[in-house]
Amino acid sequence: MSSCELKESLEVVLNLAQDEKQTVLIVDDEENNLQLLKRTFRGKYNLLTASNGLQALQVVKEHGDKIALIVSDQKMPEMEGTDFFKQVREMHPQIVKILLTGHVDTDILVSAINDCDLFQYILKPFEPEELKIAVENGISKYSMASNNKLFYNELRELFYKTIRAISNALDTKDAYTNGHSLRVTLYSMILANELNLDDDYMEDIEIAGLLHDIGKIAMPKSILCKNGKLTDEEFGVMKSHPIRGEKIVINIKKLQMISGWVKTHHEKWNGTGYPDALKGEEIPLPGRIIALADTYDAMTSTRPYRTALPHEVAINEIKRCAGTQFDPKLAELFVKVAPIIDEARKNPELYYQRYSFLVQNIDFKIISEATQGN
Ligand SMILES: [Fe+2]
Repeated sequence: MSSCELKESLEVVLNLAQDEKQTVLIVDDEENNLQLLKRTFRGKYNLLTASNGLQALQVVKEHGDKIALIVSDQKMPEMEGTDFFKQVREMHPQIVKILLTGHVDTDILVSAINDCDLFQYILKPFEPEELKIAVENGISKYSMASNNKLFYNELRELFYKTIRAISNALDTKDAYTNGHSLRVTLYSMILANELNLDDDYMEDIEIAGLLHDIGKIAMPKSILCKNGKLTDEEFGVMKSHPIRGEKIVINIKKLQMISGWVKTHHEKWNGTGYPDALKGEEIPLPGRIIALADTYDAMTSTRPYRTALPHEVAINEIKRCAGTQFDPKLAELFVKVAPIIDEARKNPELYYQRYSFLVQNIDFKIISEATQGN
């Protein structure tokens, strides 16, 4: 290795080592204090400095994602430390905050702890060693919270990828229903989006959409892909898929809630559906939503025994069956969002990424992997 190459390699290593350091912002209006603080932490952390609250806010706006901890003086012109910390808390709640204060004012301290989520306060004049320990503890707290968040995100990604993998496996089992679960999920999300449901509920509806036909996974292809009318016996087997689906998902703790929705996606508003002939609002809302999305997709997809119906014909059929097969209010809403549904049908992947709650909460690179081969 030449000396030039060695130097480059060393620089890379040093840069990597540098990147592993946590970033600490120091805020103090007195130059001497700022210098003392810089000396205290130099070499151990990536240091950012500001000499007043407004300047510090600008630094947080620009580098907030990287800042692990802030040490700020309380008494500063223009903006006090606690007011600065309140704004930091709004912008980046994960940043750990340590306040330096010249005197003990109980009201300030109580407000700082409650309103700013203060990690610790330190009385001035302070021993550098005392501050070093407080900062180290604060950095440990930040690292632990970051690791927990990373771990939680990884679990969410893994869970989502698993759901998508199962859903894709189901969709590719039959060439005629390829993409069915994804489209049903997409139409369900477009419809549910009109109902102002909370995010967790939306995520659960999304999972239920992806897994609504999971009961078909072990069904023989001779029935699932039969090119012709099913016999009564075969239809009986086919009709068992909502119950089979319920049994699969009910055993997974995180999916227990949606098991009832998977079970009810073939129920009809007038009580003539299966498996339990439930009526009206006895059918859970997500079951009624998925039923509409499922029927629309079945009508607008080509099947072995017929070509796809045009969008307008399918929408007229939904209007005709409002109040008998479908929840009349949901059917009305479905007709209202029909133009979006029609566009989404032509480009399901793009629209799915727009309407999915799970996709929006997970790194995009994961999704492109998960959707490959769909
Ligand atoms: Fe089904």
